[in-house]
Amino acid sequence: MKVFITRIIPDAGLQLMKDAGIEIIQWTEKRNLSAEELIDHCKSVDALLSAGGNWIDKAFLTACSHLKVISLHSVGYDRVDVPAATELKIPVGNTPGVLSDATADIAFLLILATSRKAFYMHNTIIEGDWGFFEPTANLGIEIRNKTLGVFGLGKIGFELASRCAAAFHMKIIYHNRDHNERAEKELNAEWVSFEDLLKQSDVLSVNTSLTEETKGKFNKEVFAKMKRTSIFINTARGPIHNEPDLIDALQKGMIWGAGLDVTDPEPMNSNNPLLQMPNVSVLPHIGSATEETRNAMAIIAAENVIAGLKGERLPFPVNPEVWKD
Ligand code: DGY
Repeated sequence: MKVFITRIIPDAGLQLMKDAGIEIIQWTEKRNLSAEELIDHCKSVDALLSAGGNWIDKAFLTACSHLKVISLHSVGYDRVDVPAATELKIPVGNTPGVLSDATADIAFLLILATSRKAFYMHNTIIEGDWGFFEPTANLGIEIRNKTLGVFGLGKIGFELASRCAAAFHMKIIYHNRDHNERAEKELNAEWVSFEDLLKQSDVLSVNTSLTEETKGKFNKEVFAKMKRTSIFINTARGPIHNEPDLIDALQKGMIWGAGLDVTDPEPMNSNNPLLQMPNVSVLPHIGSATEETRNAMAIIAAENVIAGLKGERLPFPVNPEVWKD
């Protein structure tokens, strides 16, 4: 049995697959495979382990319908046409849970960094512009006792809300399709309508998946309804916010600041005006980038490959319907 892996992943995952007798073919060039190259490489293997970049769309799935499993080295599966994979009975696996802490840490970091203009102030030192002390210059805002609004309170949102409640005594409100009973019980979180989330949040954090419904959700109409003193945080997927509208909202003072670990497009162009704004912090999609988390993701991705190649149910399936008759 052979697996094709689209990036270099941690040894912990590779070793598991080798120990299971799986032959590994790995793409090691530091560029994305083209759609044609991905199909070519997958023609002669039994499994795909996709670690970012490529679209697993209908054209790919139709050309590679022989694959016994597609394992993602991510929790997000917005680049996969899951209904098409299900129709072809190809199980797709992801890596939920293990990256919640690391991603929540990055959201928390962005809240603090933005509220105190930390990235911008760091750059002023590099540019030789520490300057003259002025009591009214470089002022941030404090988040203690303020309200955190979470759009999509799942595992990552829960971890972020726990940190904000414990460290800053923040009130937690959230908007989900369903109630999160654990958050309501343990964090006193309150479900509110989307409109109320916009009106009441001092910090509004996006922690939902990218779907047709959430794509472009944070646009100019939405930013206009947020508090002028609020901070917008996105550590989920860039296309959930409309980036030109976000830039405009910040320039017009519709919101106070923004912290992004995800942008649209990625990578962000280095000329993007967001990078010059004092109240904006941008990171290059490093939510899950810790030794511990990336090892855990590689292990789960490998376990999904191993189970799929044995014809067993994946430990972390995205489309469990494939095992229904
Ligand atoms: C994920 O796993 O979806 C994270 O965004 C890292 O890509």
